[in-house]
Amino acid sequence: MPFQSVPALVHSEFVRIFREEPRMYRSPARINIIGEHLDYNGGSVLPSAVNLFTWAAVSPRTDPVIDIYLCHDGSRQRIALEDLSKDGSGSVVEYLKGVAWAMHTGGVEPQGCNLVVGGNIPLGGGLSSSASLELVVASALVDRAGAQLEREQLALLCHKAEAEFVGVQCGIMDQYAIALGASGYAMMLDCRSHDFELLPLPDDAKFLVIHSGVSRRLPSGGYNSRRDECAAAVELLQQSIPGLCFLAELDPGQISDNRSRLGETLFRRCRHVVSECQRVREATGAMLEGELELLGSLLNESHSSLRDDYEVSCSELDALVEIARACPGVLGSRMMGGGFGGCTISLVRPAEALETARRIRQEYGRLLGREPWVHVVGPAEPVSEVEDWHEP
Ligand code: GLA
Repeated sequence: MPFQSVPALVHSEFVRIFREEPRMYRSPARINIIGEHLDYNGGSVLPSAVNLFTWAAVSPRTDPVIDIYLCHDGSRQRIALEDLSKDGSGSVVEYLKGVAWAMHTGGVEPQGCNLVVGGNIPLGGGLSSSASLELVVASALVDRAGAQLEREQLALLCHKAEAEFVGVQCGIMDQYAIALGASGYAMMLDCRSHDFELLPLPDDAKFLVIHSGVSRRLPSGGYNSRRDECAAAVELLQQSIPGLCFLAELDPGQISDNRSRLGETLFRRCRHVVSECQRVREATGAMLEGELELLGSLLNESHSSLRDDYEVSCSELDALVEIARACPGVLGSRMMGGGFGGCTISLVRPAEALETARRIRQEYGRLLGREPWVHVVGPAEPVSEVEDWHEP
C-alpha cells in the first residue's frame, strides 16, 4: 500500500465512509520544557506546541448525532447529542462526548456531524494526545455550531471536558499550549492568572522526545492522587499560613518550618513544587540568554525531583534519562508530562540530534528488549482549520 500522510488517511477514510468532502482541522501535541505538575499547583510552566498532530475531518448532519470513525482502532461509534451521559470509561469517545457536554453547558449547542479522527501522537505518552484530541474536535464542533469563541474560551471549554466530564483532574497547561501557542515559541504560562508570554525557542538546540513504551498504567489514578495530596498539603499548611491557596506560593523556608505538620510524603511533594517553581524561573532566564548548559542541568534536576520527591517516574523513564545523558550532544534529560510511563524530553545540540536518537534507540533496545519511539520535535502552529492540508 502506498504511504499516506495522516491528513491524507483521515481524508480518504472520511470520503470512503461518508462519501462527501469534509472540512479538515489539525491540532498539535505539546512538549513541556520544564514546570511539571505545577499547573494545578498555581505555578508557571514552559510548554510548546510541536509537530505531531491529531486531525479531524468533519461534515454536517441533519440529525442530533455525531457519527465517528476512529483511525486509531478502526472503530465506528455514535454519540447521541440528546444523551450526553458519562460512562466513566476514559475512552476516546468519552473525551469527545465531554467536549459536546462542555459546549452544551457553556451555551453553545453542538450540532450533528460526521467525524473522522486520526493522528500520530502516541496515546497516554505525556505529549498531550488528549488535549490535542479535545481541541481539534472542539474547534470543528464550535465552527459547525456557527459560534465564535476566543481561543482562551476554547482552551477552558476543553479543560472543563477533561476535568469535569472525563474525570482527569488535569491543569490548564495542555489546552493553553495547544490553543494559544505559536510556532517556534515556548509559552511561559502563569497557571494562576492565566497570563502568558511567548518566548522564542533556542536556535542552537533541539528537543528529543522518546517514548518509554510504557503507557500510563492508571490513566488518571496516580495523577489524581497527586492532586489530592497537594490539596491535603494546602489544607494542613493553612493552619500556619492563613490565606494560602496554592503550593506554588510557598517559599523553601515555609515548607521546612512545617515539615512535621506535613509528614514526610507531603513534605516531599511540596519540596518538588517549590524547587520546580524556582527551576522554571531559572530556565526562562537561561533560555532567553541562550545558556543551554544551564537549561540542560535544570532539566536534569527536574527529573531527580520528579523521581524522588514527587514519585511520578518509573524505572523505564529513569533508564531512558540515564542513557540520554551519557550521549555526547545531550545537555539534559527528564521525564515529561504526568509520568508513570510515557515520554522523556532531552535537550540536544542540533548537529548531534540524529546520532543521539540512534544511540538511544540502540541502548534502550539492548537494555529492555524493545526499541523506543524517538522523535526530534519541530515547531507547530496551534489548533486550526487547515484548507491546504495537501501541502507537504
Ligand atoms: C498532564 C496534565 C497537565 C499537567 C501535566 C504535569 O499532562 O494534563 O495538566 O499537570 O500532566 O505537569
